[in-house]
Amino acid sequence: MNLLFYNIQTLVQVRSENELLKGEDMKILPCIENAWLYIKDGKIEDFGSMDTYPQHLNIEKIDAQGKLILPTWVDSHTHLVYAGNRESEFVDRIKGLSYEEIASRGGGILNSAKKLQATSEEELFDQSEKRLQEIIAMGTGAVEIKSGYGLNTEAEIKMLRVAKKLEEKYQLPVKKTFLGAHALPPEFKNKKSAYIQHIIDEMLPEIAKNKLADYIDIFCEKGYFDVQDSIQIMQAGKRHGLKSKIHVNQFNSIGGIQAAVENNALSVDHLEVMTKQDIEILKNTSTIPVALPSCSLFLSIPYTPARELINANLALALASDYNPGSTPNGNMNLIVSLACIKMKLTPEEAINASTMNAAYAMEVENQVGSITKGKLANLILTENIPSYSFLPYSFGNNHIKEVYIQGKPQINP
Ligand code: NIG
Ligand code: FE
Repeated sequence: MNLLFYNIQTLVQVRSENELLKGEDMKILPCIENAWLYIKDGKIEDFGSMDTYPQHLNIEKIDAQGKLILPTWVDSHTHLVYAGNRESEFVDRIKGLSYEEIASRGGGILNSAKKLQATSEEELFDQSEKRLQEIIAMGTGAVEIKSGYGLNTEAEIKMLRVAKKLEEKYQLPVKKTFLGAHALPPEFKNKKSAYIQHIIDEMLPEIAKNKLADYIDIFCEKGYFDVQDSIQIMQAGKRHGLKSKIHVNQFNSIGGIQAAVENNALSVDHLEVMTKQDIEILKNTSTIPVALPSCSLFLSIPYTPARELINANLALALASDYNPGSTPNGNMNLIVSLACIKMKLTPEEAINASTMNAAYAMEVENQVGSITKGKLANLILTENIPSYSFLPYSFGNNHIKEVYIQGKPQINP
């Protein structure tokens, strides 16, 4: 697919090189005003300001007067392969039950696992495909997908196979993460060590052998898996060549960040409850903090202290956490808005955290995350809007006119 956009009001996030952006550097969002962008064979071939417009190119041209072009959002943390929904738990929470109370009554993750185990692979694909189509239409052009609602070998593999099929069908970067340690399945009630051993000896080798996962994850939290469990699983993952991306500090700070850093985790995700020491530990490490603000919105829990993380000269990525329990929404535009409104990020910081830094958090920075020659033409073309700050400002509204994946329009193909 070859295309030439011209008269682009602002071409956003233009970079000649990749860089994980930390601290002050997150404040800078490089742009070209009044720009053109040339897409060749599904990739970004060239771009510039209109005074260097390559008029002679004899290809389809699109007038982007009044519109912005951004790289698509990168969503580095989702659970979008799941079966059914949990709106009755949502109603229970409105009536006063907490997320933890619902889980301890057999709801929560175990509720989703029951539904998933009873769903065929075809049906699971259909349900998940709708969610992927929906997030693409909202501007997501690369996504990480976790297992973790199977909780037995067969069902975990079913989830990862569905993620793989979505990747093949939709041709956007997808990373798959094995999250066997998401909750303790009923068959292993009061036998947590046996379940961990089962993950390490049975599930993981099978998944690794079939190349069904890129990463390993653990829900490191009181009442789920503790720090020792997490270390065991991260190390087992490492033996199979899987880096870890872990759920930590969602409700309690129990030492998971230290363990993640010591095991060279690629990312630590959630971080709603952070101590000063947790922030200190992340300094001078390669582990990327990932905040999930729509989970905070939905569960009414604290927002990740993102301002403090950035002020401590750390990198920050943002992701949706799309899942049936804590975030039944994968809209990255809302994430960018929430980051600005609730976490006091500037629009530049929020956009950097949802594009370039997010690409690093799932190791796709060579493919997506910026307008850079040679990267995939995964692009957002906005409606006529005054500036990129208008996107988070006008929260909850849709300002996307078209989304391109490898140069192909997705909304009006
Ligand atoms: O990231 N916290 C752990 N896992 C998911 C939610 C799981 C669920 O409630 O289904 C999360 O929020
Ligand atoms: Fe999650």
